[in-house]
Amino acid sequence: MKKALITGITGQDGAYLAEYLIKKGYVVHGIKRRASMFNTERIDHLYQEPFEENRNLILHYGDMTDSMNLTRIIQEVQPDEIYNLAAMSHVKVSFEVPEYTGNADGLGTLRILEAVRLLNMTDKTRIYQASTSELYGLVQQVPQTEQTPFYPRSPYAVAKLYAYWITVNYREAYNIHASNGILFNHESPTRGETFVTRKITRALSRIALNLQQTVYMGNLSSQRDWGHAKDYVKAMYLILQQDVPDDYVIATGITTTIRDFILQAAAEIGLEISFEGEEKNERGLLTGINKDVFVEKVGEEHLESIKLRALKNEQVVGVEPAYFRPTEVELLMGDATKAKTILGWEPEYDLNALIKDMMQSDVKLMKKDHHLKVTGFDTLNYFE
Ligand code: NAP
Ligand code: GDD
Repeated sequence: MKKALITGITGQDGAYLAEYLIKKGYVVHGIKRRASMFNTERIDHLYQEPFEENRNLILHYGDMTDSMNLTRIIQEVQPDEIYNLAAMSHVKVSFEVPEYTGNADGLGTLRILEAVRLLNMTDKTRIYQASTSELYGLVQQVPQTEQTPFYPRSPYAVAKLYAYWITVNYREAYNIHASNGILFNHESPTRGETFVTRKITRALSRIALNLQQTVYMGNLSSQRDWGHAKDYVKAMYLILQQDVPDDYVIATGITTTIRDFILQAAAEIGLEISFEGEEKNERGLLTGINKDVFVEKVGEEHLESIKLRALKNEQVVGVEPAYFRPTEVELLMGDATKAKTILGWEPEYDLNALIKDMMQSDVKLMKKDHHLKVTGFDTLNYFE
């Protein structure tokens, strides 16, 4: 049985990748951080009884800032493949914690590579580095390929630039099978709640259920190339199955503004929104309801209240300058031709299917909130 070690296993990608590798017959080891509350919600469904001999998911406490901890875990586990997914991954937050971001996201990658080298595991262990389309930043070319020059625009992206190049350097200097996946934005129902897509799908679900009036957003005009995390973890696996290590762009090739994502996600549950005004004064008004879609996707019992709000053209989207970034990445659009040709990678989800998946999941989740609010019943299993 092959052994994989995943850093960042409690995150969106870590959880999907762990599930994917377990299904392929791997024994998966994951590094999680100690937290004051449970932080394994995304992988709890994979976890088995602690005393079982044949467990295929084993967790270790650790941190990307702790070299000795990482080196010990790698020595103990002796992984065939390491997927380095752990990172302080929020671009806006990285402006507030730049040094920590550099340490965890940049030097953390060096710690993994150096551990494999010092433990003489360079012939045995393959390494996947979670690189990012944020490297392109102030884009020098559209669409972006493996050849497009980088121009990072945040402490996060600069840290990831170091991680990208140290991975290339260790590959060339020490012949390590180390590869970068330059992944464009990918989302899912378990996407962190503060990333834009999930913020939108949660808020629209709450608005539909009359639990929230307005959602305040940052830059509505930036454009992203969004795929589904389920498709993207398959690319990570494929990259490590190649005889020769290399770097690959993983993207859909389609770019969409944040504003259009809101409109499409709203339409998915029968809400019609119209935008008016500009920049800080831009607002999204609820101007209509597609009754049949709303009843099917949200439920008849919520129709009357949403119709009333639409009649009044209530504001449901606003702009809050606090969400703007000091330097923005305005446009991302990737060209994954190399991955499609060499890896045979093909995504199954388009943006529409991604939005469907996220809206369906969040409406279901928020209905539990609604039930809590309406009945005052507080012993529901919120995360069931
Ligand atoms: P995520 O949901 O934010 O997960 C990040 C993971 O890293 C979590 O498990 C987190 O642990 C862990 N982590 C953070 N700091 C750590 C530290 N100092 N030591 C150990 N673990 C730490 O991110 P994601 O969306 O799954 O992304 C996975 C990786 O791909 C990240 O490196 C991200 O930068 C990169 N990436 C993501 C995208 C995307 O669109 N999703 C695109 C390109 C690249 P906790 O659960 O304890 O916080
Ligand atoms: N988070 C957030 N919140 N973003 C907003 C908001 C808001 O209220 N309003 C507008 N945006 C804009 C941001 O300014 C950015 O242009 C875009 O929405 C996407 O923001 P995020 O969803 O936070 O993602 P990101 O593109 O900055 O970073 C994600 O993708 C990268 C790959 O390109 C993260 O997953 C990174 O870890 C990843 O590397």
